[in-house]
Amino acid sequence: MRTTLTLTAVLILAWCLPVSAQTVSYSKDLYPLVKAKCIKCHEQDEENPNDYAMDNVALIRSSGKSSNMVIPGDGRNSYLVIKLLPKPPKGAQMPIFSKKKLSEEEVDLFIRWIDQGAKDN
Ligand code: HEC
Repeated sequence: MRTTLTLTAVLILAWCLPVSAQTVSYSKDLYPLVKAKCIKCHEQDEENPNDYAMDNVALIRSSGKSSNMVIPGDGRNSYLVIKLLPKPPKGAQMPIFSKKKLSEEEVDLFIRWIDQGAKDN
């Protein structure tokens, strides 16, 4: 009985939490998106068009030409996020050549993950 009550309380609490406060897991939430929409062009190999590799968190944070690619704690100013929005300062909005850009929720996932420290979680 007590366990059920505690469980219910935890569930209600989790449900009430604003989306922005919910922890984003790289492996559970972000990786599927990267795999579906980015990795075919951003793998660490000689066919990668611009050397930005997204195979794992370490590469997402450290590869590429920009020093502000991922600024842990500041998703909106991270170049990775800026490239997902219309009219980035250089090049095209990602995913390039695709009519279907990321939804607001998907971009938000990147922002929250970086805001929360861009962890390999
Ligand atoms: C069809 C291939 C393709 C796909 C899919 C793609 N990209 Fe790119 N990406 C490129 C190319 C080509 C460039 C270089 C030209 C440019 O910056 O516009 C690039 C550049 C970038 C850069 C800038 C790298 C740097 O060093 O300046 C980032 C960040 C980026 N992509 C992120 C993403 C993300 C995140 C996704 C998935 C949502 C994605 N890309 C999907 C081909 C792709």
